[in-house]
Amino acid sequence: MAMTGVLRPGHAQLRVLDLEVSRKFYRDVIGLVETGTDKQGRVYFKCWDERDHHSVVLREADTAGIDFVGYKVLDRATLDQLERDVRAYGLETERVPAGDLLETGERVRFQLPTGHLFELYADKKHVGNGLGQVNPAPWGPDSERGMAPTRLDHCLLYGTNIAANKKLFTEVLGFYLVERILGPKEAGEPEVAIFLACSHKTHDIAFVEYPEPGKLHHLSFRMPTWERVLRAGDIMGMNNVPIDIGPTRHGTTRGETIYAWDPSGNRFETFCGGYDPYPDVEPITWTHDGFGHGLDYPNGKLHESFLTIVT
Ligand SMILES: [Fe+2]
Repeated sequence: MAMTGVLRPGHAQLRVLDLEVSRKFYRDVIGLVETGTDKQGRVYFKCWDERDHHSVVLREADTAGIDFVGYKVLDRATLDQLERDVRAYGLETERVPAGDLLETGERVRFQLPTGHLFELYADKKHVGNGLGQVNPAPWGPDSERGMAPTRLDHCLLYGTNIAANKKLFTEVLGFYLVERILGPKEAGEPEVAIFLACSHKTHDIAFVEYPEPGKLHHLSFRMPTWERVLRAGDIMGMNNVPIDIGPTRHGTTRGETIYAWDPSGNRFETFCGGYDPYPDVEPITWTHDGFGHGLDYPNGKLHESFLTIVT
């Protein structure tokens, strides 16, 4: 098996201002599949083609934002080893007990230098995508409700000291740098954004340097085609969902995209495309001057709202 270590984004817990409004939005407009509610009142969802119990958890709170993100690792031995590696690297870790999240095993949690709570876990119940494991149909009823993304693709997080995150992710967690964005020449061209993969995607997680720690820029949902991104845009229009950017194509990662806001002001993305990097690729660099096209390739434009609004 070629793929070991950290496998993929597994879950994100979002803070929302009104749980019932948000539940309806994530279920009926985005088109996620609701899979449970726990004793704390948190609501669980998965994308239709994901096979694990959940990938998005909503918690009602007074402020929007993200509580934590969790990444699935290959198995328990990998989890134990990565926990030892993270501790040896100098970060404190804690074990969140099995069952704290529904149908999920123990999680190893630690705080990133950017201030975000990050988790690794090995076990989550396989519930399937509703199509079965033998002679499955290519799609089913859950794949046609709302925007119907196929999976949680990545998250972009804003915080302090992304250089330290890069070191942790590349030296300890087994990620590799796919693309990066530089700051202005007069500031010495520091890396102001990094796109990291643990797999064969243009990014499984990305970070932007920001003066405040622990901020969410967006959660990204994978769409199977550009037409499905455009259809998601139609559904945003039909439901008066406020759009930030798009439909357009990024130069950075080459993805096709629309960004919009959920009812609490958390930004989300409907995304497809990109290319297929391997761990031995040389990272692509976007200069400060070239980043207008990195963000919005056709327009070559820096969008103020995209660069400044986070939760
Ligand atoms: Fe994204």
